Amino acid sequence: MLFKKNLKKIGMIGCGAIGTEIAVAVDKKDINVILYCCNDIDKNKYDELLKKLKNIRPKFLSKEKLIKKVDLVIECAKKDAVKEIFELALKYNKDVMFLSAGGVLENFELVEKAKQKGINVYVPSGAVVGIDGLDAAKYHGLKKVTLITRKPPKAFEGNEYLKKKNISLDGITSELVIFEGPAKEAIKEFPANINVAATLSMAGLGPDITKVKIVVDPFISSNMHEIIVEGDFGRFRAITENLPSPTNPKTSYLTALSTIVMIKKIVEPIHIGT
Ligand SMILES: NC(=O)c1ccc[n+]([C@@H]2O[C@H](COP(=O)([O-])OP(=O)(O)OC[C@H]3O[C@@H](n4cnc5c(N)ncnc54)[C@H](O)[C@@H]3O)[C@@H](O)[C@H]2O)c1
Repeated sequence: MLFKKNLKKIGMIGCGAIGTEIAVAVDKKDINVILYCCNDIDKNKYDELLKKLKNIRPKFLSKEKLIKKVDLVIECAKKDAVKEIFELALKYNKDVMFLSAGGVLENFELVEKAKQKGINVYVPSGAVVGIDGLDAAKYHGLKKVTLITRKPPKAFEGNEYLKKKNISLDGITSELVIFEGPAKEAIKEFPANINVAATLSMAGLGPDITKVKIVVDPFISSNMHEIIVEGDFGRFRAITENLPSPTNPKTSYLTALSTIVMIKKIVEPIHIGT
């Protein structure tokens, strides 16, 4: 583990939508780090990534070799990969950044171990704004955190919770609240919503107390997240209307931007905002 200013080498696990945005940013010298190596469960994804890079050629290494070689490990793979990556980062004392926030919440005991070892664990804000305000509010007198997620009907195709509750979204013409409850239950029943709810839970009051409302809205075409935070400071509402990445429609652009900026904050000396 190195101090911020000395950070040089990063290794990326997952060469999909978000990984590609990070690698392209390093390739364009937008981030002052060396992307030393990559890993993906599907080597073709790495080969595809290399085709998009003009100036750098990160090596392909196994997860363990990658983690041994770098100063900061970036996971942008899958929730199920978090435990193994986290345990290896702990074994080799490496700082680690996770995009699969749901996986971090599921393995939260490892965050405690990282704290004890002095390892930095980073979870970018991802697809949602307002985490900075929540962070500040948490310092004193945070009382209530609510997430209202609004998605078009097609986002819920095949959802088991709706089947179980006999809720049909066929031809809906007005908005419909399909879930209201603790983040813990929302994460279980709506896995596609897991990262935002998990990030918010970890930043605020935890998954049992953080409240989630999920609304199906036939009048929107992309996802919206509204965070309402109440505490001794007062109250704020932050609304994110996400658009897909211009280079990859599979991911919201803000997630990649927020990750790139988090890496920049680690290696650059000026930090504005909480
Ligand atoms: N925090 C947030 O707000 C937020 C927002 C969007 C996505 N995410 C999460 O970030 C992660 C990456 O998202 P993405 O859009 O880039 O996904 P993606 O599917 O485009 O890319 C994931 C890549 O990881 C690889 N992969 C899967 N399992 C792996 C494993 N066990 N080991 C190594 N590689 C593996 C896949 O082959 C793929 O190339 C996902 O877990 C996603 O849920 C978080």
